[in-house]
Amino acid sequence: MSQNNRLSKRELEQMRASSRLAARTLEMVSEHIQPGITTNAIDRMVDTFIRDYGAYPSPLNYRGFPKSVCTSINEVVCHGIPEDRVLKDGDIINVDVTCTLPAKNGFFGDTSVTFYVGEPSPDAIYVTEVARQALEVGIAAVRPGARVGDIGYAIQTFVRSKGCSVVREFTGHGIGKEFHTEPSIPHYGIPGTGPLIKRGMTFTIEPMVNLGSWETLVLDDDWTAVTKDGSLSAQFEHTLLATRSGVEVLTRRDSLLKHSEDKPYARLGRRSVPAAHAPQKDGANAAGG
Ligand code: MF3
Ligand code: CO
Ligand code: CO
Repeated sequence: MSQNNRLSKRELEQMRASSRLAARTLEMVSEHIQPGITTNAIDRMVDTFIRDYGAYPSPLNYRGFPKSVCTSINEVVCHGIPEDRVLKDGDIINVDVTCTLPAKNGFFGDTSVTFYVGEPSPDAIYVTEVARQALEVGIAAVRPGARVGDIGYAIQTFVRSKGCSVVREFTGHGIGKEFHTEPSIPHYGIPGTGPLIKRGMTFTIEPMVNLGSWETLVLDDDWTAVTKDGSLSAQFEHTLLATRSGVEVLTRRDSLLKHSEDKPYARLGRRSVPAAHAPQKDGANAAGG
């Protein structure tokens, strides 16, 4: 589906409802994040929660994806498949929720966050907080007259300034009556290039940030994407509506998310950059991405 036809008022309300449900699902999951829980348990609670609202967990059977949510731990960049693996103290895990409301012929809402399991390492804090801020920087670039390339440029510039890299193989996307539509929204780019962001467009921004190089590999299960160098990776995603004045974050939450936004370091500023990850002119951290 192209994004040329603007949503009607009623359709827009439906997009708001599906996005709100996806956001509520993450709030529900946040209550359960702790060492000892399995990713399969997260999958089951997400599946049940979403279906209770008459919605469908969009990942299930999407192009053969076998579960109802994506769970991506540590060096997994995205599309991790829930399994019997147990979360350990110090892990970071991205939970990526998408729902279709109503279940048949509905609208999609898509949002993800990275959670801390127990006590995180300085590296885990660093990559997670850079990714959290990268999404904010991307959202701030959605202004009237902005182009898709402006979003990617803003994100990439910020992430590089922090000595991390931006994944290139996976992008944000238009969203609406379908899961993934045009335009694709790369998290890198050239200012002033790409499609214009028009009022009424609904799309995601979902930067994946690596501590090391930007390159990824897909495992033999054909889904799980990992960093090629094994370095940690973190991701945050919102579904957005471009408005007359800027942007409405359709998957916004009412309160600080537990095991993530509620942490004291979730507001990391410039001065808290660990020396080991300070911006570099060259070397692995500054290459690519
Ligand atoms: N939620 C992912 C995104 O942000 C897509 C997951 S596709 C799946 O676009 F099949 F893995 F669920
Ligand atoms: Co998405
Ligand atoms: Co998603």
